[in-house]
Amino acid sequence: MNTKLKVILVGDGRVGKTSLINQFVKQTFKTDYIMNTSADKYKKEIEIDDITLNLEIWDTIGQEIYASINKIFMKNSNIAILVYDITSQESFLKLDNWFQQIIDINNKNNIIIGMCGNKSDLFEKEKVNKDDAKKFALDKKIPFFETSAKDYQSIFNVFNQLCKEYIKKEKELQKRIINNQLDINDTELIANRNNRKKSLYIHSNKNHNNSSNDNNDSLNNSNGNNNINIKKKKNCC
Ligand code: GTP
Repeated sequence: MNTKLKVILVGDGRVGKTSLINQFVKQTFKTDYIMNTSADKYKKEIEIDDITLNLEIWDTIGQEIYASINKIFMKNSNIAILVYDITSQESFLKLDNWFQQIIDINNKNNIIIGMCGNKSDLFEKEKVNKDDAKKFALDKKIPFFETSAKDYQSIFNVFNQLCKEYIKKEKELQKRIINNQLDINDTELIANRNNRKKSLYIHSNKNHNNSSNDNNDSLNNSNGNNNINIKKKKNCC
């Protein structure tokens, strides 16, 4: 089973993506806001049903002007978490757009998607109708969660449930491999994984003499020519 998972959090600026990740990874919550201008990577190990999963969690950029950079980071994701802020109707209305971006970039049959109505502690200022949110989730056939980045358990539940879903899907895939029953989606998934491994290998070779670490990623642009060096403002893992 592939135990290294790429998880991405997407959603408008200020909805709480960074805060949710910080709570999940470091059990911290900060009230100040520093706008994210780069996609940051965090790591966390999680154990589910005796299986250790190594999560690589990507905090994407909420601001629309960075959409093209976000798309690079969204590729080859295993799990995507759509986040909106329950006190911002606008952030909820943009979810459809985020959902479309994810499934355009990844194979929709192979990515697990969940949706969070964040800042549940601010329920008195709630602007998004919960029934609308539930209907959205139902239409897209994705689970709906209410989270508060102040509350570890709420975000743990999201990761726990989505990772369980991932394990279930992986086990079904293993069965199809053993029984020689792979379908077109499976072969696409396996080909993508192989390509990803290859590109990671090429990338790590390119950076072999480079002192860059996880806190300062560098990646090729779509032409494969110039490197986009993205400086991180925040401390990730
Ligand atoms: P971008 O970097 O612009 O993409 O924003 P983001 O989605 O990463 O939001 P961020 O985590 O930086 O949070 C924005 C603001 O909302 C910060 O001031 C946080 O403290 C606050 N915040 C985030 N989550 C919660 C929450 O669950 N409850 C409350 N009360 N505040 C939250």
